[in-house]
Amino acid sequence: MNILRIDASARLERSLTRKLATHFLETLLAGTPDSEVAKRDVGVTPPDFLTEAWIAAAFTPEKQRTEQDRRVLAESDQLIAEVKAADLILIATPLYNYGMPASLKAWFDKVVRIGQTFSFDLSRGDVPIEPTLSGKTLVILTSSGEFGFEPSGIRHADDHLVPHIQTVAKYLGAETVEIIRIEYQEFGDQRHDHSVERAFQNATTCAQKLARSLNTHRAHKLHL
Ligand SMILES: Cc1cc2nc3c(=O)[nH]c(=O)nc-3n(C[C@H](O)[C@H](O)[C@H](O)COP(=O)(O)O)c2cc1C
Repeated sequence: MNILRIDASARLERSLTRKLATHFLETLLAGTPDSEVAKRDVGVTPPDFLTEAWIAAAFTPEKQRTEQDRRVLAESDQLIAEVKAADLILIATPLYNYGMPASLKAWFDKVVRIGQTFSFDLSRGDVPIEPTLSGKTLVILTSSGEFGFEPSGIRHADDHLVPHIQTVAKYLGAETVEIIRIEYQEFGDQRHDHSVERAFQNATTCAQKLARSLNTHRAHKLHL
């Protein structure tokens, strides 16, 4: 299995999402030892923001692109190649100001691209945009200072992180989405300790389940 790990926290050693992602991956790799992991650390090296030149180049048909267009699109080409190669995408991201870190948004803006991850066709009527990738699993690991952002929680209406990622995830080809949250970081009390403990347990369970399902799928293919 090819795994793409995206880290979006600006923190390194103290980051909870980075620790949780490492634990998730270690568990997953224990069950699927021949998996390959690619890493893209947008927290440390954010992609450039979009420019007018980038948009013009992306919407120019490939054969008509100039050398300059190709240079402008090079970073996006690389990020898209990483997404295309992945069977499982792991996004480890903090909640910043009730949404995704700007670095992660910059990554999505470079990855979701016409002719690469979606097609646009007005003959499809009111739904002209269709994803071109499919069959991937997306695991979202988040951490927040406050709590209650889950669908039944008191701050669900303020969660512009998970619902946003879920909306754009179809352009990553994600068909299965798993979500694990750490909460209460700013309170630093027992509720936070329990939340961390629960998130690590959920990460273990989720990684073991994904490893099992991959191995079952493989065994099934071998017997066909
Ligand atoms: C710039 C910034 C903005 C934040 N905004 C929010 C917020 O809107 N809501 C919230 O609950 N926590 C917020 N937090 C707290 C983080 O989500 C929390 O510290 C989380 O653990 C960060 O992830 P990390 O541990 O992987 O770095 C913010 C933290 C920072 C640094």
